Amino acid sequence: MSMNLITKTTSFAKEIWKDYLNSDCVAIDATVGNGNDTLFLAQNCKFVYGFDIQKEAIDNTKDLLKNHGLDNFELFERSHSEMDECINEKADLIVFNLGYLPDGIKSVTTRTDTTIKAVEKSLRLLRKDGLLSIMIYWGHEEGKHEREALLEYARSLDSKVFHSVYINTINQKNNPPEILLITRKID
Ligand SMILES: C[S@@+](CC[C@H](N)C(=O)[O-])C[C@H]1O[C@@H](n2cnc3c(N)ncnc32)[C@H](O)[C@@H]1O
Repeated sequence: MSMNLITKTTSFAKEIWKDYLNSDCVAIDATVGNGNDTLFLAQNCKFVYGFDIQKEAIDNTKDLLKNHGLDNFELFERSHSEMDECINEKADLIVFNLGYLPDGIKSVTTRTDTTIKAVEKSLRLLRKDGLLSIMIYWGHEEGKHEREALLEYARSLDSKVFHSVYINTINQKNNPPEILLITRKID
């Protein structure tokens, strides 16, 4: 064991993603940011689409992936709520890492209404047995609303079509990150 997996929520999520990835799959990173997740996806998939509303995030991520010798990606400086206008194929794995960039401008955070719209569109793009993974940060005000809306939305999904799982830490302080996972069981 190289690390204590359940104490590192982002690594925990990536271990789950691995089970849904192979060299033929298509992934979407709905919140590119510094590009860490986009890089991981591009290294493990046939193709990855990425979205971010910050030009700097898109430019930095493009450089990061190019510097790793990768060209199997397309990045959009657009809101993830418009993803259906940019992508014409089904995806095997769609990831959201909500909130704001830790070293960026805190006012540029994901927002409840656009996040829910993007999640609805993601579920339409998701292939059967594909995975939607949402990392929730709820230490800030908008994050609290976003979390509530997401949980309500995920609970209301048709159980015949979707299977939804919620991973939350129950004994740590300061609103630790949580993972919401949704898979599509039928087309
Ligand atoms: C927590 S960061 C993502 C971190 C990233 N996954 C990484 O590995 O560095 C959240 C990102 O979501 C972006 N964002 C906020 N609203 C967005 C929207 N409507 N559509 C796409 N990206 C958005 C922010 O600009 C920010 O870069």
